[in-house]
Amino acid sequence: MDRLIITGGNRLDGDIRISGSKNSSLPILAATLLAEQPVTIGNLPHLQDVTTLIELLGRMGVQLVIDDRMQVEVDVSTIQEFQAPYELVKTMRASILVLGPLLAHFGKAVVSLPGGCAIGSRPVDLHLRGLKAMGADIDVVDGYIHASVKKRLHGARLVLDTVTVTGTENLMMAAALADGVTYIENAAREPEVVDLANCLNKMGANITGAGTDTITIEGVETLNGTNHQVIPDRIETGTYLIAAAATRGRIKVKDTDPTLLDAVLQKLGEAGADITQGENWIELDMHGERPKAVSLKTAPYPALPTDMQAQFTAMNTVAEGTGVITETVFENRFMHVQEMNRMGANIDVQGNTAICQGVDHLKAAPVMATDLRASASLVIAGLVAEGDTCVDRIYHIDRGYECIEEKLQLLGASIRRVPA
Ligand code: EPZ
Repeated sequence: MDRLIITGGNRLDGDIRISGSKNSSLPILAATLLAEQPVTIGNLPHLQDVTTLIELLGRMGVQLVIDDRMQVEVDVSTIQEFQAPYELVKTMRASILVLGPLLAHFGKAVVSLPGGCAIGSRPVDLHLRGLKAMGADIDVVDGYIHASVKKRLHGARLVLDTVTVTGTENLMMAAALADGVTYIENAAREPEVVDLANCLNKMGANITGAGTDTITIEGVETLNGTNHQVIPDRIETGTYLIAAAATRGRIKVKDTDPTLLDAVLQKLGEAGADITQGENWIELDMHGERPKAVSLKTAPYPALPTDMQAQFTAMNTVAEGTGVITETVFENRFMHVQEMNRMGANIDVQGNTAICQGVDHLKAAPVMATDLRASASLVIAGLVAEGDTCVDRIYHIDRGYECIEEKLQLLGASIRRVPA
């Protein structure tokens, strides 16, 4: 397994371009399973998770043409298989997103239950309960979800116990071809849900309310091909902004959308960052000043994203003052804390809250990544540590950050990838 070696102490200063959103690409690739004609998707990031889903579609017999700019044309008319095997699902739990489309368009699906992961048990009970309410027969046998529907799914009023992003997406895709109207209440409001709804409507779906907590889907008979560009990755954007803030530097992130991360920008303002923005760019400048510690509570969009929690924790380790960070979405998302404390941070975890007293600087240490965003936070910690920090198990990072070492090198970081 590759490792990243980061020599800390460099102040980031430069411009980078943001890639397409991973968490928009995955549901939109799954949505191609609903169409009668080819769907072309652009601005896809070149990430492990995206290639895993492309591989899964290919294994089903779906035809995919990928050009040199990672623009993908998907033609599902040649599909032969309707299943997602454990060996792929275990590497990328978002494979569950093929369940709704397969069921709605082909009336059957066999999808491995995604296991838990480092950050929590991450059940899919709400996905299954919603599909059952729409008329699906669902059995879970030997770790596989066996789903079928005799004729066609029917509309239903679905009230989700918990706000679930992929649950909302799966049910919205299933409802797009159902007979009748489906209401999803307590729906996720994430921009990636809106991007998916926009793509489905371009395919001929009839979806209103995406971005609010009640989404209405009037089912149609068939969905057509279209061409769609996925939105920029708001989590990648926030990650680089925080890296610049932690190193007291300056950054301009381009090809992004500032309206997707209001809560993050507001928090960075509290940290003392000088932020300006345009239609598709954000500039952050610390003017060489030490960031102030921030306190925050993660929650579903539009509140502070759980996917930004580890990165803000990393900034807090070297900030002025004490920051209190509370994680309300996942039950075990502080595994980066003990790694940072080994680097000299002063973080005390009490239940779902991490209390961090800022120190002047961290000290390099060998650390291990445990999940996608925790691994990015350890890279940020390495940027502000004295010496060479070695981050192990960076396959996590490659799942969600396109060319991270090249982008950081462009910003002046001293970082290199070494084979294990
Ligand atoms: C999506 O995961 C994202 N992944 C995650 O990003 C993100 O952290 C998460 O939403 C929260 O914003 C993708 O979009 C591919 P959830 P998802 O269902 O949909 C509980 C990253 O770093 N729940 O919104 O799997 C669940 O346990 C990844 O890019 C149920 O109880 O998350 C959790 O506590 C990490 N039953 C809460 O809901 C269900 O059926 C939110 O989970 C589904 C979820």
